[in-house]
Amino acid sequence: MKIAINQSVKGENIPQPGAQQLVFSAAAKKKIKTILARYPKGREQSALIPVLWLAQQEFGNWLSVDAMELVARTLELPYIRVYEVATFYTMFNLKPVGKYHVQVCTNCACMVRGSQKVLESIQKATKTSQSGETSADDLFTVTEVECLGACVNAPMMQVNTHYYTDLTPESAAEIMNQLRDGNIPEADTPHAPKDPVTGGKYEEVK
Ligand code: FES
Repeated sequence: MKIAINQSVKGENIPQPGAQQLVFSAAAKKKIKTILARYPKGREQSALIPVLWLAQQEFGNWLSVDAMELVARTLELPYIRVYEVATFYTMFNLKPVGKYHVQVCTNCACMVRGSQKVLESIQKATKTSQSGETSADDLFTVTEVECLGACVNAPMMQVNTHYYTDLTPESAAEIMNQLRDGNIPEADTPHAPKDPVTGGKYEEVK
């Protein structure tokens, strides 16, 4: 069943796309073609998560309503179908984030290994205090998140697409200082998740 783009769900205030029509770059279009080739005709919805991820990478590490609408147009899906998936998964940012999105795991394994102190140290180093807050210089958004699958080397954090593990309050603060100085410290690649678009190493967000 097709749902009109401007149709809202009863009881919810679903943001609607504006007049701006975004377009994917030629490189992204090529990737989308590769992704779509994985699925049988008529099953384009299966490509929704990797194409949303691609859109997030293309448009500043977050998904605006217009970016979600572009994904809907690209996959010929109702906007509401794209919106409901994008709002379900925390890997999708629904508002702008800083240059470095610092996701600190505070789930069980990380918690018992001192993630609260790591989080506090990061917040102090970035001058933030609330989860999801962006620093005044727009460099850091620090978000408290659930398990990121690297429990064996807890406590850990993800900065954009890089994993940093076995953190201490000191090492975490040092990583923030390095990033502020424009250096990207070496990440823990064995734990890094696969890029949902290419299936290989994550491509860095520009
Ligand atoms: S609990 Fe932190 S990575 Fe699993």
